[in-house]
Amino acid sequence: MSTFASAREAARAAAWLETYGSPLYVYDLGEVELRARELLAVLPAGSRLLFSLKANPLPAIAARLCQLGCDAEVSSPGELAVALSVGFPAERVLYTGPGKSAEEVHRALGAGVTGFSAESWLDLERIDRAARAARVRARVLLRVNPNAPPVARLAMSGVSSQFGFDETELVEGRARLASLDGVELMGLHIYQGTQLADAQALLAAVQQALEVGEALCGALEMPFQVVDVGGGFPWPFATPGVGLEAAALQGPLALLAARRQRTASSALWFESGRWLCASSGALWTTVVDVKRSKGKQYVVLDSGIHHLGGMSGLGRVPLVGMGVARAGAETEPGALEEVNVVGPLCTPLDCFARNLKLPSLRPGDHVFIPNVGAYGLTASLTGFLSRPPPVEVAHRDGVVLSVSRLRWGHESYEPPATARLRSKQEAR
Ligand SMILES: Cc1ncc(COP(=O)(O)O)c(C=O)c1O
Repeated sequence: MSTFASAREAARAAAWLETYGSPLYVYDLGEVELRARELLAVLPAGSRLLFSLKANPLPAIAARLCQLGCDAEVSSPGELAVALSVGFPAERVLYTGPGKSAEEVHRALGAGVTGFSAESWLDLERIDRAARAARVRARVLLRVNPNAPPVARLAMSGVSSQFGFDETELVEGRARLASLDGVELMGLHIYQGTQLADAQALLAAVQQALEVGEALCGALEMPFQVVDVGGGFPWPFATPGVGLEAAALQGPLALLAARRQRTASSALWFESGRWLCASSGALWTTVVDVKRSKGKQYVVLDSGIHHLGGMSGLGRVPLVGMGVARAGAETEPGALEEVNVVGPLCTPLDCFARNLKLPSLRPGDHVFIPNVGAYGLTASLTGFLSRPPPVEVAHRDGVVLSVSRLRWGHESYEPPATARLRSKQEAR
């Protein structure tokens, strides 16, 4: 997507902004399909691709990825509910994440999910206990934190972290693994970080994960049915551009898979959130005010860090790049100005971009932020300042397939009956 919307895109967006209000998230399911097909086509034969709902739990997106043959990776009761509601069979769901409560493990088992990634001894023993109580066997992947880090914007392995077992810890504690009756140890889960730098970094991470698989398969003297090598497939965030060329991965991935020895017959699983849905989404906003302060030009939008990149204020998300949708803006002579683009929240952290060169903007103009289909709305500070969440529209070829809005505001809360009883007994 370039800095200027095409006339077709601009006209479509203008009509939807008129109907559903501004700001508006627009997701093109055609893009989701394209990305999923591209990635599925280049993975080694027999691999499975898990869609990580944390990137975007919008049901229309999850449903399409389910239909296209992806499995689901979920990390919360909410993501699980979406996955099941859009048709992922429970046996195609992997429940991951540190800090899973006994209650959520119990509920997931109750919903038929038996695939879990265990992040620690306690997590593993909790899954084991819950499975025994439910009289089922949980199929568990041990999440491993490899010794070396990947080249990632947000490395989650190879450094001290809350994620997974350190490689050495697992080997030293292997006798503990033998004592679990409620779980079947299926293999390993190695997720090294999101937004890996490029194809080379991605292939290096997969290679490292496969090597860890080989080493642990030997050290634990255990066959692995599955080696989940994670992903981290990169795509630009909130700025124009495209991600890596998927086709370039096919040959090298096949070679890496073929080099395996001890794990040669293990199924390979890959995970992706960002790459599958980043390009599908754009946040369309409207300019509310244009003002000057101490020599700087400010463009105030009707959307801010409560709708996109709430973590940018914490320095974890880069400032964004924008596109402009006013007809003729791209041809206005000498019209580029340096502006700070800010949102409507009462904090200086509510800033999308500093010193960005944009055509001169006026109140009422539409500005869009591309590549926000992943880690957009639900990775933002949606509760901050109590402004309503934007409507989300999913379409295919301009035909609207779903229109929804995240729930907003407070609802009264009734604790479950057991908790009421406990608190009454404690009060006595
Ligand atoms: C365990 C796990 N799997 C998958 C993902 C999705 O990563 P990405 O969106 O980079 O594909 C994440 C992201 O944090 C993760 O923690």
